[in-house]
Amino acid sequence: MQGKICLVTGATNGIGKITALALAKQGAAVVLVGRNREKTQAAQEEIRRESGNGMVDYLVADLSSLAEVRGVARAFCRKYSQLHVLVNNAGAIFNQHQTSADGFEMTFALNHLSYFLLTQELRGVLAAGGTASQQARVVNVASLAHSGGQIDFDDLQSSKKRYRSFGAYAQSKLANILFSNELARRFQADQLPVASNALHPGFVATGFGQGGGAVMTFVMKLIRPFAITPEKGAETSIYVATSPEVEGVTGQYFSDCKIAKPAKQATDAATAQRLWQISEQLVNSSQ
Ligand SMILES: NC(=O)c1ccc[n+]([C@@H]2O[C@H](COP(=O)([O-])OP(=O)(O)OC[C@H]3O[C@@H](n4cnc5c(N)ncnc54)[C@H](OP(=O)(O)O)[C@@H]3O)[C@@H](O)[C@H]2O)c1
Repeated sequence: MQGKICLVTGATNGIGKITALALAKQGAAVVLVGRNREKTQAAQEEIRRESGNGMVDYLVADLSSLAEVRGVARAFCRKYSQLHVLVNNAGAIFNQHQTSADGFEMTFALNHLSYFLLTQELRGVLAAGGTASQQARVVNVASLAHSGGQIDFDDLQSSKKRYRSFGAYAQSKLANILFSNELARRFQADQLPVASNALHPGFVATGFGQGGGAVMTFVMKLIRPFAITPEKGAETSIYVATSPEVEGVTGQYFSDCKIAKPAKQATDAATAQRLWQISEQLVNSSQ
């Protein structure tokens, strides 16, 4: 990964932090995105120390806010003219219906719209980073939870029906795969040297679920002994981001460092296109 520039969101904890560390260990310049300045700075120092790589930079943004997503992309583009690997990883589950700064349901805003908008804003530097023989890569961290989800086009913001935290989360993770597939199709149609793939990291013992409320915290505590370590959980992200075996592979879903079959609703091209168009309208309406 020497000479490569990578950006990892949610790089202050869990899977994202281990992914960023691995990329730094492999010699890449890594830009961490975190929402808390002190925590992000601490992650930068830790990753520099553990990797022995000084090319670890950071940017601060609350990615549930579209203005902050745009700001972080602008800050990146002011400093770097190329991006070789974008890892869309930051995500969470929310116990109660919450509204983002732009008025969107929080799970949809953070887990889906931030992946969508950040990638759109970085399209130019990604295209500049890829070549015909070595494509730039967009790595979208989704979840097996997508298989329990549906895209509810009549109520994307979960405002009409009773809010269910897992339902909103599953919809957002399904949206990650649909977005990843549609992005791959669009990069190919525009003949841009950029690949887009999605993945399930496994059930990983991280900070995930902490915002899920008392029941979620209790369930997470019960099942935590069955979870894999963050190091193991980051393996598929690192593989999809760096492996030569993945060169030229796009529009796929990975699990356990292998191409896997997502649920049927994740492969529907018409749903992916419709979600893309609506997401585009939503992010443009907030400009
Ligand atoms: N853990 C699992 O079993 C599992 C399974 C399937 C998929 N996933 C997916 O894996 C990804 C990473 O999750 P994880 O398990 O590593 O969870 P985690 O330990 O909670 O890490 C989540 C990361 O996202 C950041 N983040 C949360 N809200 C943010 C916001 N508003 N703006 C910017 N950054 C924000 C967190 O920042 P702070 O450090 O400031 O909190 C943290 O760095 C998520 O997309 C999740 O859906 C996880």
